[in-house]
Amino acid sequence: MANLFMKKDIGKLIADAGDPNVEGSGHGGLKRHLTALNLTLLGIGGIIGAGIFSLTGVAAANYAGPGIVFSFIIGGVLCALAGLCYSEMAAMVPVAGSAYAYSYATLGELIAWIIGWDLILEYAFGAVTVSVSWSGYFVSLFRKTFGIEFTDSMLQWTKGPWEQVAFADGSMHYGIWNLPATFIGLFVAGVLYKGIRESATMNNVLVFIKVAIILSFIALGWGVINSMNWVANPDATGLASLVPVEAMSTRNGEDFMSYGWPGVLTGAGVVFFAYIGFDAISTTAQEAKNPQRDLPIGILGSLFICTVIYILMALTITGVVPYKELGVPDPIAVGVDRIISLRGWSIEAQKTLSFSVKFGALLGLTSVILVLMLGQTRLFYSMARDGLLPWFDQVHKKFQTPHKATVTTGIFVAICGGCMPMTLVGELVSIGTLLAFVLVCIGVVILRKTHPDIPRPFKAPMANLVGPLGAIACLWVMSGLPVDTWIRLIVWLIIGFVIYFTYGIKHSKLRNGGK
Ligand code: ALA
Repeated sequence: MANLFMKKDIGKLIADAGDPNVEGSGHGGLKRHLTALNLTLLGIGGIIGAGIFSLTGVAAANYAGPGIVFSFIIGGVLCALAGLCYSEMAAMVPVAGSAYAYSYATLGELIAWIIGWDLILEYAFGAVTVSVSWSGYFVSLFRKTFGIEFTDSMLQWTKGPWEQVAFADGSMHYGIWNLPATFIGLFVAGVLYKGIRESATMNNVLVFIKVAIILSFIALGWGVINSMNWVANPDATGLASLVPVEAMSTRNGEDFMSYGWPGVLTGAGVVFFAYIGFDAISTTAQEAKNPQRDLPIGILGSLFICTVIYILMALTITGVVPYKELGVPDPIAVGVDRIISLRGWSIEAQKTLSFSVKFGALLGLTSVILVLMLGQTRLFYSMARDGLLPWFDQVHKKFQTPHKATVTTGIFVAICGGCMPMTLVGELVSIGTLLAFVLVCIGVVILRKTHPDIPRPFKAPMANLVGPLGAIACLWVMSGLPVDTWIRLIVWLIIGFVIYFTYGIKHSKLRNGGK
């Protein structure tokens, strides 16, 4: 049984990663192209997406009120704890598999498999969730902004078979297939197939546009904030006045809003999704020019920038629109309409701004799909190199990308995006990510004890405090997720065990004396 916890030798793992100064070194032959700026932009590309463009409103309306700003701060601190641990690991062990590879060296093969299998929830299912959201913005852009009407049967091809579509006569019908979601999954896979340079360039462009649009929203909204909108609890003073005190509204006869500081904490669990993605860049360690220096810059830099943007965004949106009106799928669009009417601008201005926001959201979501799918391909690649999965370790001779992993990921995201309900996968993505964070936080502390002498180009400050605190904080957020999500996680892990015990254990290179 002890064999299940065989550990990779950390020295070998580091040697495997190859010398960053030697082009193509590391047995994989991936191309070292990414700079610190590329990595930071990839981080931002992976972070800002569906979370800020839709979940902010629901979390403010139902749980935290204007106190959503505290939820974002809590989410940011939690991710910073995990981010510090990721940075230490990524700089010390700059290999493609990220958390999966780190746990192979610290916690053994079985746990590494669990974490690798679990990360599929974050990366592949994360891309699926965001591709469904992308489809929603895509349809809305065509219908509402360009005024192009979709026939009933066309609409059925924009929703999966479990989602409902309203026909022109008002009757409700089930969708057939979410074609826009399938399209974006395949398109992004095509870019990833072509090369890491092309992928990074596309991401850079997308990030510049989406950040510019978000900053414009903040700049335009800031001037028309009504500070009374921030007062949710007039009996309190100072910052506490931002937090509503009690459930005030009912739906179907039942209270559905949970307020007060518990509401702020629940809000933090909801907006956690908005931070997912910064860790994905650690999977590109073997494609970074100087991973030891640049990965921590990319991880922590992107996290810091996004946290600041989120806090400003939360203050702006709740300052412009009363929080109770924000419980809609597109709160930012509601904010834009309000800013325009407060500024007394014309219908034309409204159209232009509403188009810009939707377009920005569409681009923002595209970069999230890109980065999450990138993470998935590098994870498959890494697991296959260890023998735990078949095929995916092959690298395309010309493009120097793990093409088989890329094609498989693309097909998976395209099919699941076409037919899976978003509600089913969204929370699964969060719980899967949190589990990975817990193991990385614990891994850092273990490695400090077992391998104190290994060079650590980046050291998490007070690792013995930051690691356990990060793990506890993630476990706490996990505990707030619904029981259904836990059951799905357990079912997913059981499927993983079956694959490991029927395939991985037999083909593991470590087990067969390989590494
Ligand atoms: N953080 C990413 C998003 O919000 C997953 O879309």
